Amino acid sequence: VTRSTPYTNLPSVVLVGPPGAGKTALLTLLERGDAALSTHTSQVPQSIELTVSVDQHLSFREAVKDDAPGEHKKFLLVDTPGHGKLRNFAMDSLVAREGLKGIVFMLDAATLDENLAATANYLYEVLLALQKRVSSVKTSKTPSAINVLIAANKSDLFTALPATLVKSNLEAELGRIRKSRSKGLLASGVGIDDVDNGENDDWLGEYGSEKFTFGQMQEFNLEVDIVGGSVTEAKVDKWWHWVSERL
Ligand code: GTP
Ligand code: MG
Repeated sequence: VTRSTPYTNLPSVVLVGPPGAGKTALLTLLERGDAALSTHTSQVPQSIELTVSVDQHLSFREAVKDDAPGEHKKFLLVDTPGHGKLRNFAMDSLVAREGLKGIVFMLDAATLDENLAATANYLYEVLLALQKRVSSVKTSKTPSAINVLIAANKSDLFTALPATLVKSNLEAELGRIRKSRSKGLLASGVGIDDVDNGENDDWLGEYGSEKFTFGQMQEFNLEVDIVGGSVTEAKVDKWWHWVSERL
């Protein structure tokens, strides 16, 4: 594992998500093999270079070894600050980055009840930016698929919601955000015709649908998975395999 310059053109996976979710803790675990005892609020993005074994289903601990079997692939894992005022780093990396293979949106499943609105608001921004990236391509060539993993972290804590509940809570909240945003648009004088024509480009997912589901993002070539885990307990192999399969 080596720290690398941001100038390499390796494929990359970007870590985004609200403050305190455990993004930097995950980066540290994958880099050093153990999670740091304490992390600081991130203020700038940081990247590390990691290696996966392509055709072997190795755990992350086995995979980072230099002598791991099978074909190897290197990639950059990019950690971004979750603070609301520093999200431009994350948003820029989603839109501009060449070779972006996947996005890991990490959240704290143990405090999701309290942080649902804030977490879903950020997720809405992320998914909308990706949706626009796909829908703004004017050629007939289908843009390549973008994969998003919602990593529901901190499953070691007893208050942590299981992935199924994280999913349904987020879907309900994203649906509420979508509805209130479209009302805001109407109130701000955007003609109802524009909205009916599907020109409301703040609308996430299937246009006009009553309920939001992550499955609606497939229309925009976005695949969303939700998987639980715990950085503290080093239960990150399902996330690791998700990443490996996207490279
Ligand atoms: P920002 O840099 O502010 O965006 O936050 P971050 O997502 O990088 O969070 P960070 O990695 O700094 O972790 C925040 C806190 O959560 C730290 O105190 C970690 O030790 C703790 N933490 C991370 N993962 C876990 C986990 O799986 N379980 C528990 N219980 N705590 C965790
Ligand atoms: Mg951080």
